[in-house]
Amino acid sequence: MSSEAGVSGEIADDMKSVDLGSYDNSWFHPGRSGFIRAAWFFFGLPILRSGLVPSSAVRVWLLRKFGAQIGSGVVIKPGVRIKFPWRLTVGDNCWLGEDCWIDNLAQVQVESNVCISQGAYLCTGNHDWSDPGFGLRTQPIAVRRGCWVGARAIVLPGVELGECAVATAGSVITKSIPAFSIFGGNPAVFLKSRRIGGEGVTPDLVMKARA
Ligand SMILES: CC(C)(COP(=O)(O)OP(=O)(O)OC[C@H]1O[C@@H](n2cnc3c(N)ncnc32)[C@H](O)[C@@H]1OP(=O)(O)O)[C@@H](O)C(=O)NCCC(=O)NCCS
Repeated sequence: MSSEAGVSGEIADDMKSVDLGSYDNSWFHPGRSGFIRAAWFFFGLPILRSGLVPSSAVRVWLLRKFGAQIGSGVVIKPGVRIKFPWRLTVGDNCWLGEDCWIDNLAQVQVESNVCISQGAYLCTGNHDWSDPGFGLRTQPIAVRRGCWVGARAIVLPGVELGECAVATAGSVITKSIPAFSIFGGNPAVFLKSRRIGGEGVTPDLVMKARA
């Protein structure tokens, strides 16, 4: 069926409807036992999110206990939500802002020196809208070193943010974006290149910073 047929309201004779009762995600494995997932849901997650826990170090400790790989110098603010800590890697010197949500049914990799600002949403889950059973689909997300995911930005499944890329506040990143680029809007489009450090920056210095 063409998209025009949808717009004009024509429906093909053989077209089915959605039956959420036939939804079957039995193929999906959450990666840990029901006991560990329950412990995370009822114990770990509420502590992670609580504004009554002032210490970022406690949140880092907790996430590591539940299997996240987290580097040094990482700051995690209250209100952060993580679906499955065991499917999260975070490099050194990263910041996770208040209420950002890493919905990691699939692996989310956050490399070093990344800032994920308030309320950003990293989404790894999807549904097959052409399937009557609305089948689940998952894809990983990679946020390369030095990126900034702005407040309330949405990063969709399968996306890779290249090194030092910026997703502006409120942007919807539907496709991977290249290194040192700034993307914004919905769907996000290229706004400009990101220059860091001005004229004094040489390829030598960049290589040193990466080492
Ligand atoms: C990316 C950002 C830093 C702006 O950078 P900047 O270099 O000052 O860019 P400018 O303001 O000159 O904007 C450049 C262009 O991008 C557009 N733009 C800027 N921010 C945008 C956004 N969030 N969504 C869509 N377009 C945006 C501007 O309108 C401008 O367009 P134009 O060239 O047609 O006029 C800023 O917009 C942003 O998103 N900051 C994130 C804020 C945030 O998350 N804070 C959390 C605190 S931890």
